[in-house]
Amino acid sequence: MSATNPQEAELEVLIRARYPLLYLVSWEEERVSQMLARLAKKGSKRLFFWSVTQGIVESGGGNAGDSTVRDPKIALDFAAKVEEPSIFVFKDFHSYLRDDKIVRSLRDLVGSFKSSYKTLVILSPRLTIPMELEKDLTVVDYDLPGPEELKGMFDQVVAASQSGARFPVDFKPGEVERLIQSIQGLTLDEAESTLARAVVQNGKLDASAIEVILKEIKQIVRKSRLLEYFEAKEEIAGIGGLVPLKDWLHKRGRAFSEQAHQFGLPQPRGVLILGVQGCGKSLTCKAIAGLWKLPLLRLDMGSIFGSLVGESEENMRRAIKTAEAVAPCVLWLDELEKGLSGTGSSNMSDGGTTARVFSTFLTWLQEKTKPVFVAATANDISQLPPELLRKGRFDEIFFVDLPGATEREQIFAIHIAKRRRDPKAFDLAALAKLSAGFSGAEIEQAISEALSEAFNLNRDIAQPDLAKALGETVSLSKTMREDIDRLRQWAATRARPASIAGG
Ligand SMILES: Nc1ncnc2c1ncn2[C@@H]1O[C@H](COP(=O)(O)OP(=O)(O)OP(=O)(O)O)[C@@H](O)[C@H]1O
Ligand SMILES: [Mg+2]
Repeated sequence: MSATNPQEAELEVLIRARYPLLYLVSWEEERVSQMLARLAKKGSKRLFFWSVTQGIVESGGGNAGDSTVRDPKIALDFAAKVEEPSIFVFKDFHSYLRDDKIVRSLRDLVGSFKSSYKTLVILSPRLTIPMELEKDLTVVDYDLPGPEELKGMFDQVVAASQSGARFPVDFKPGEVERLIQSIQGLTLDEAESTLARAVVQNGKLDASAIEVILKEIKQIVRKSRLLEYFEAKEEIAGIGGLVPLKDWLHKRGRAFSEQAHQFGLPQPRGVLILGVQGCGKSLTCKAIAGLWKLPLLRLDMGSIFGSLVGESEENMRRAIKTAEAVAPCVLWLDELEKGLSGTGSSNMSDGGTTARVFSTFLTWLQEKTKPVFVAATANDISQLPPELLRKGRFDEIFFVDLPGATEREQIFAIHIAKRRRDPKAFDLAALAKLSAGFSGAEIEQAISEALSEAFNLNRDIAQPDLAKALGETVSLSKTMREDIDRLRQWAATRARPASIAGG
């Protein structure tokens, strides 16, 4: 494809500037190999590939390869001996970087490369760098194909429908663009085979291929094991109160559109929702995706932390990449503080891993260009690193307090209606009074209890059942009074209230 690919340009610069050791992170060996072949040709260099299964293979016309060279150490020696300007591509070499001797040989080799026109490229889907190599090595992320490249592949598939395997192609205006947008996130190979599958399945190529593509994307998210694909069923209308927060979300959603982008609005970054337990923080995050009709990906901070050195940072990078691939989407980080405790300097127990993972995340949050909207929640602010709260990280920080009287009325109405009863049959104002200091979750719980009580008595639920259930509940706001007060004080100067005060 065209050399407008920014990674190709970056790589060309690095090679010409004689960076001796590059680490290319990509799943797409084929696409990357083609790119390297173009660069080698352009720079009049020889090109060698090494893999443990094929040994050394010279590409681009030369045949100085040696298929017997399976041993990584001998392969490095081979590279040392070649005198002409060359690019050596070592596939899946990351697994040998655990061996001290290999690392040492690599460093020696790279040292000698500095005064030559030779470059060694480690090509691997995973990034693992031993500390000793950190200074010698430059990482290049090879991004998934962009819309242009995907359109090129799509055109080829369409062309194929006219020749060999004949099948009908039927798109209405705008549908091809939608298909190309939905297919982003797949490698070129995956994209092509997904289209082929859609053709086989549907007997034609049309907009219904998008369904097949979405399934494939869900697979990828699932396979990453770091993210969870949520079917967002929650609606904004199912949240009682929190009017300022909901208004803000309505407005922000428009900034995601192509028109807003054309108009010059920056991409929305994200929102941090802090506050009291059970008051709708997680609920709101789920509803955002429903409101904006975007996929919702949940990032489980716990799963990020791996046992091997460097694994956690790599997991974070991978999760970010996957989310970017699925973009536009909402990336939901629930209970952020649980994953981030230990970022402070006082906690050295994990050798700084948490801090590094966190800084990877922060940097991305600040610099991201892809439309990934981060929706994060937290309820223990004392655990949150201050850097997170600095301007420019999130678009806004909201504080969710216990619901006021009017909000409680709404929450009762929502949950009563959810259980297929008419809210008008209840005195909502009286219920709101009886539930002063209750969270939304506690109100919901009381309704459930009243309902099962009524069921046991073989009659329908009525006002006194609810009053009784409320009377028997000891709300968290009583037992956690001091914590909540502290939270409020803290939030007063740092966060925007998610609800209108009162009650
Ligand atoms: N404002 C609200 N409107 C309607 N329902 C609510 C509201 N707040 C809480 N609920 C109910 O309580 C449940 C729990 O709320 P949610 O999980 O959003 O709380 P949270 O703020 O994330 O709490 P935690 O800090 O414990 O995670 C929701 O699924 C919903 O049924
Ligand atoms: Mg929650």
